[in-house]
Amino acid sequence: MSVYVDHLLPCLPNKNWHWNHSAHLFADTVAELHTFAARLGLKRIWFQDEGFLPHYDLTTNKHGKAVTLGAVLLTREKATMPTITQNQADAANRVVQQRGVIPHWSRAWAMPTLATFDCRPIKSFVLKYLMHSILSVDPFARNQALATLRNDMDPSTTAEHHMPAVDFLDMLVKQGVTADLVLFDPPYSPRQIKECYNGIGIRATQGHTQGVRCKRERELVARMQNIGGIVLSFGWNSTGMGKGLGYELIEGLLVNHGGAHNDTICTAERKVSARMVRDKRSS
Ligand SMILES: C[S@@+](CC[C@H](N)C(=O)[O-])C[C@H]1O[C@@H](n2cnc3c(N)ncnc32)[C@H](O)[C@@H]1O
Repeated sequence: MSVYVDHLLPCLPNKNWHWNHSAHLFADTVAELHTFAARLGLKRIWFQDEGFLPHYDLTTNKHGKAVTLGAVLLTREKATMPTITQNQADAANRVVQQRGVIPHWSRAWAMPTLATFDCRPIKSFVLKYLMHSILSVDPFARNQALATLRNDMDPSTTAEHHMPAVDFLDMLVKQGVTADLVLFDPPYSPRQIKECYNGIGIRATQGHTQGVRCKRERELVARMQNIGGIVLSFGWNSTGMGKGLGYELIEGLLVNHGGAHNDTICTAERKVSARMVRDKRSS
């Protein structure tokens, strides 16, 4: 018997909810849910029985306290929640979808940095999600040691693996790895791809430079995640994983670097569907 919470998600405050984040508390049985809610200091009148998933809404503070008191994070369903059924996960997901996640966009200013994640607002964005993560993957890590499993094609970097990202991700999928968080920070343009390949002594072909959308890499990432998994993408557009791979946008951050520099566009997307729709756009 367990009590669960899902991830905190951005939302718009309204007359009934004055905060800009919320999450859900639910349990295997309603009795267990009420007992746990009382320990958290939640009033019984806040209980919501919407037919398919009785739950309480949680503020950021109560979410942290619930986890401290032993509530299990929903997005870890495969790794840490053998008792949760797919029906319960689907039901919880329907609550989130029905509530409608309103992506929260913000904008910050920062000097450009050589390494993406050394830029202060971007680092905070990454750490906010990383602190809830159990197993994270970074296929384009360069020298960043943030994720659990790290790869970079360039052998002079400190990542543990040095393969093309597509091979690294394919290897993890074949090993049955489930990542609750993926950091996706590839080269941002055909020119940057060319520089990366030339930098390690490989002549960049048209095939390489046309791969700027990283379509195959993103499909493998989607296969490596359960419902609730998060992907943080960085680049000069906000395309990210997209609905076609079963993801919804939950947060966006524009980092303006001043002058004629391009903004760095950071997105956080959450997997909400296991169904992938193949699109016909070229990669
Ligand atoms: C934008 S940088 C990543 C920066 C990193 N997130 C940081 O904060 O330092 C992209 C990295 O991807 C690597 N890379 C480029 N193409 C790759 C590929 N096909 N497979 C794996 N790594 C690749 C490059 O060597 C480069 O270090």
